[in-house]
Amino acid sequence: MDSLTIDRPLDMHLHLRDGEMLEVVAPLSAAHFSGALIMPNLLPPVSDGKMLREYGERIAAAVGEESFERYMTLFFRSDYDYDFLSSLRESITAVKLYPAGITTNSEGGVEGFDIAELSETLEAMSELGIPLCIHGESNGFVMDREAEFIPVYEKLAENFPHLKIIMEHISTKESVEALDRYENLFATITLHHLLITLDDVAGGLLRPHLFCKPIAKRYEDREALRSVALSAHPKVMFGSDSAPHPRNAKEAPGCAAGVFTAPIALAALSELFDSHGALDRLQAFVSDNARRIYDIEPPAKSVELRKEPFVVPERFGTVVPMMAGEEIGWSVVKVTQGGE
Ligand code: NCD
Ligand code: ZN
Repeated sequence: MDSLTIDRPLDMHLHLRDGEMLEVVAPLSAAHFSGALIMPNLLPPVSDGKMLREYGERIAAAVGEESFERYMTLFFRSDYDYDFLSSLRESITAVKLYPAGITTNSEGGVEGFDIAELSETLEAMSELGIPLCIHGESNGFVMDREAEFIPVYEKLAENFPHLKIIMEHISTKESVEALDRYENLFATITLHHLLITLDDVAGGLLRPHLFCKPIAKRYEDREALRSVALSAHPKVMFGSDSAPHPRNAKEAPGCAAGVFTAPIALAALSELFDSHGALDRLQAFVSDNARRIYDIEPPAKSVELRKEPFVVPERFGTVVPMMAGEEIGWSVVKVTQGGE
């Protein structure tokens, strides 16, 4: 197959930032995707109705005419009660939980993971049918953080059987194995965790544009991720975790974590799925699974890709994308909005 049309592609984990960065990156996601789950880790984080509304409006303004649904998330805090969450039910698609200090702008996140302390909020979310997205990492040794977090996922999944829990940007075989143990556990997988290992980040010269949280892991982890993504396992969805930082924050002694992939995601996924004879699974991975798991109906948009080389630009504004200057074997050739 040399071409492929994807109906309503979705990116279920996206950082759009704010201000000038938002102006640069929002149109790039909107050009290829029908919608995205928008992460709340601004400074300060998106944690009330006013912030949700105003951030949503700024995103809409940055996107312009393009049809692009913003699936907003609220930054988890353990003092959210039923009435508060109920008042925001229509404005959010999920709540995103960060362990305190684990990644960019997560300082106000959860400390310690005492489930009893989180119960009132989680019970309310469960009753209201609000999915919980989690950045699942402990504060242990960097390669072990995700695997060490799995007992927390399990305890949450057991204690709140009606709460949909999404393990965000999974990067290990342990997370892949946990998926099938609980009916209410789901996962997003990024492009970069499907493509790279720690060798690409730090095995040769250090490549800051591939540095992210969770850090890319071993070959066997990448294999496990590929096995569920390329087969479009019904509990996994594409979430780019595209996380732009200005070049000077990446090419710096204290390199910020995050890989910017939004503008290359569909082309690179097509190339990867094609090279594994799995193109027929891409629709489920980048759209259908998310529509079913989140019960959402994104706006009509179809994206045609062709097996034609695409040279990744060196820069989008101040941001260096993944694979800058490299060639991807597939390109987006046409995007059709609206209609049937
Ligand atoms: C993300 C960011 O920069 O906001 N960084 C990252 O390395 N993935 C935050 C996150 O999702 O961890
Ligand atoms: Zn993220």
